[in-house]
Amino acid sequence: MHILVLHGPNLNLLGIREPGIYGSLTLAQINELLDHEAAQLGVALKIFQSNHEGELVTAIQQALGTFDGILMNPAAYTHTSIALRDAVSAVGLPLVEVHLSNIYRREPFRHHSYLSGVAVGQVAGFGGNSYRLGLWALVDHLRTAQ
Ligand code: DQA
Repeated sequence: MHILVLHGPNLNLLGIREPGIYGSLTLAQINELLDHEAAQLGVALKIFQSNHEGELVTAIQQALGTFDGILMNPAAYTHTSIALRDAVSAVGLPLVEVHLSNIYRREPFRHHSYLSGVAVGQVAGFGGNSYRLGLWALVDHLRTAQ
């Protein structure tokens, strides 16, 4: 089973970026957690971060035929991107949306996600563990659905 992990804009700054909200783990450390979890689950990961919406759209399009599912933290594009939502709908791959912070306890503009309506589900508020929980949930969904 092959899973594509996508990190959206500014997540490359984790560790120094608002640690009171996002925690002190760097993106490299989160990716290590994910690799460890993937090994436990027996799945292969490809991990990609971009600050550019179009690059993320292209990565989702190219996932078709190569990956079984997508784990994504769309970051700020969560709240703005119809293009990312349409890409997910277009390829039809199961998506689990993750957020480090609980977006529903934050500013009102973060309460709406364009992605959640096309996602299998969402994990938010558990810091780096949101990714591990999200990967577990995606793999469980894929294994149960097949
Ligand atoms: C985030 C929440 C978003 O609102 C924010 O724009 C991010 C990170 C999170 O992981 O908590 O960049 O997706």
